Amino acid sequence: MRTRRAALGIITGASLALALSACGEQSAAGSGSESEGGTIGIAMPTKSSERWLTDGESLVKDLGAKGYETTLVYGDDDPQAQITQIADLVQQRVDVLIIAAIDNKSLTGVLQQAADADIPVISYDRLILGSGNVDYYVSFDNEQVGRQQARHIIDRLGLEKGKGPFTLELFAGSPDDNNTRYFYEGAMYLLQPYLDSGQLVVRSGEIKLEKITTLRWDGTTAEARMKRILSTSYNGRTVDAVLSPYDGISRGVLSALKSYGYGSDGKDLPVVTGQDAELASVKSIIAGEQSQTVYKDLRELATVTANMADDILKGRTPRINNRRSYQNGVKAVPAYLLQPASVDKSNYASVLAGYYTADELG
Ligand code: GAL
Repeated sequence: MRTRRAALGIITGASLALALSACGEQSAAGSGSESEGGTIGIAMPTKSSERWLTDGESLVKDLGAKGYETTLVYGDDDPQAQITQIADLVQQRVDVLIIAAIDNKSLTGVLQQAADADIPVISYDRLILGSGNVDYYVSFDNEQVGRQQARHIIDRLGLEKGKGPFTLELFAGSPDDNNTRYFYEGAMYLLQPYLDSGQLVVRSGEIKLEKITTLRWDGTTAEARMKRILSTSYNGRTVDAVLSPYDGISRGVLSALKSYGYGSDGKDLPVVTGQDAELASVKSIIAGEQSQTVYKDLRELATVTANMADDILKGRTPRINNRRSYQNGVKAVPAYLLQPASVDKSNYASVLAGYYTADELG
């Protein structure tokens, strides 16, 4: 078994100067005049979605408050670029790596480099697969996210009261993101009985996960797919609900629906779910367009992660609350999972109080 800094309690990072390369790294010193704890490398997937900006900022802030320096990089949704960035962080001998993977199966090689350099790895929000060199996982209860989306559809359509049949279309996240499967399975667990009973009908016939994924969670890709479905399967018919796993996809779906006349001239928009409580989507919920999102307190996720990194480097055992569920193909990665919350027009003001200001929500 290889020796980890955690086990030895060795803290080496304080002396490491931050080498800023040309690849868009941002570094931040701890709140003290000099960093006591070392340097934490943070690799985030993309700046194109608001949430990852919040994640990055919150991690830098929380780790800074604990006396760590941070080097934060964004991979621009390009798996190869992310591998290069992580390899750079390994070269810089950061003390811990916090990684939200772009392609969950592409990091085996670079994580071996991290292990050889004795750098512990925290898999952030998205589980890294196929590598034994993943020490911890922090995320939300991802299956619960899918269930909350399905629950919203069930309640809004009155399926438990026997109403129907209704038409439903299904969207899933990126095929290279492990969370995609959890969101889908969580939702289908609740929706499948209504598909079986015929209360829900997927007119496109696209139900299996591999038929409904959206590469890199891209809203434009989802918009194109929704348009194709509307033109091929809904001539003269209406779609009543759309299961969407993420706000960026929901907004793409809504844009396709609007271009087909939904939301005007008495043609109601379908029930459309989402995730991340992104500002644009919360505004859309307030305006009566998107109907639901799942709020995940990213600041809390960052705090849990910062505590974990701190515990690892101080030789303490990090707090986990799930040891078995998150199998990455090589090992069950010890995890700390937070709880998501379903948000719609009826509860956004109370659930999101403190996350967005009244001004931001307009
Ligand atoms: C997932 C994450 C979601 C959403 C999505 C797109 O991995 O769990 O909350 O952010 O990526 O960025």
